[in-house]
Amino acid sequence: MGSLIKNECRRMMTRSRKRKRQEDFLTHCHEKRILTFQECIPETMMERCVKIGEGVFGEVFRTRRDDGSSVVLKIIPIEGDFPVNDQPQKTFEEILPEIVISRELSELKDNQTGNQTGGFIHLHRVCLVQGAWPDHLLAMWDQWHQEKAGGSENDKPDMFPRSQLFVVLESEDGGCDLEHYQFYSLREAKAVLHQITIALAVAEAALQFEHRDLHWGNVLVRKVGEQSSTHHLAGEEVCVDTRGLDVNIIDFTLSRIHKDGQPLYCDLSANPTLFEGKGDYQFDIYREMKKENRDNWKQHHPYTNVLWLHYLADKLLHKKYRGQKKIHRQWQQKFRTFLKQVLACRTVAQVLEDCQLFEEK
Ligand SMILES: Nc1ncnc2c1ncn2[C@@H]1O[C@H](COP(=O)(O)OP(=O)(O)OP(=O)(O)O)[C@@H](O)[C@H]1O
Ligand SMILES: [Mg+2]
Repeated sequence: MGSLIKNECRRMMTRSRKRKRQEDFLTHCHEKRILTFQECIPETMMERCVKIGEGVFGEVFRTRRDDGSSVVLKIIPIEGDFPVNDQPQKTFEEILPEIVISRELSELKDNQTGNQTGGFIHLHRVCLVQGAWPDHLLAMWDQWHQEKAGGSENDKPDMFPRSQLFVVLESEDGGCDLEHYQFYSLREAKAVLHQITIALAVAEAALQFEHRDLHWGNVLVRKVGEQSSTHHLAGEEVCVDTRGLDVNIIDFTLSRIHKDGQPLYCDLSANPTLFEGKGDYQFDIYREMKKENRDNWKQHHPYTNVLWLHYLADKLLHKKYRGQKKIHRQWQQKFRTFLKQVLACRTVAQVLEDCQLFEEK
């Protein structure tokens, strides 16, 4: 009898602790209560959802709001007991850094304190949702599964119980990722690399930011009318020639910032398989980062951003381009020089100062 009472007390304490953690989490959400899928994604917006991507932790959909703007929804299951794609679900505390970091970077767009950039995706809202996956999203999941070579790598989300919680992140539609974007010339690619570099330098200065997972699926490119963009770095205005391409950096699952005297980060030392990948330069970068910080992910090492710039320049150099061969060869040479110079820089600010590539017209 005594142990039954003890067990019931323990269950009640666990429940009340979870309620408290949930309330804390909701303070970071747009609406301070749990929503249904229907409340979070109104009918007309739901009907227009199409799956565009997936990761180990979530599913990504593109849709249109009633005001006509295109937006992207990232849906991530959290706090559940059973694993998803062989991984334990994230807890409130584990997902919070990604949310806070996304918001801080998004807000750099309007920052008035001398470090300002629109190079990070704009986050519209974050919601906590509970319920079974809506039929339309399941149908879109099936469609992606059938159309994509090899199918989806994720478990089908119809296996979640009605009690499952999800975090929904709604952001602006940043366009196409760098891997799949068809450039005309390496000169256009230089304009993209320049925008990535300035965005990283601004975030380094404002927030001690390190992305830590800046592979070419996490950089988005979209055609725009404007031929230049303006940023502010340490109080100085910096104008970048964009060649009509707007760049947005996404996916801050592994990122780090410093905010209110505290580092916010994902402890990658708890994820040893991240450092075992083979077959692409991307996987060497995780090992190089670990060599740099000696597996201490709390500390700020801006050099990790420099390592990702080297990776991105290498990827861009080896992409296919349609432009004139002679001009292409000249730009290839400039990219090769950049690849030789960049790793000697310790910060992205230094890359901007020391590498000639961004001076080239
Ligand atoms: N705001 C956006 N605009 C356009 N496309 C996006 C946007 N956000 C995500 N995508 C697309 O969805 C893909 C997956 O999104 P994202 O990188 O955020 O998640 P992920 O890789 O699943 O993250 P995680 O590393 O947390 O598992 C991206 O590579 C991109 O193609
Ligand atoms: Mg990603």
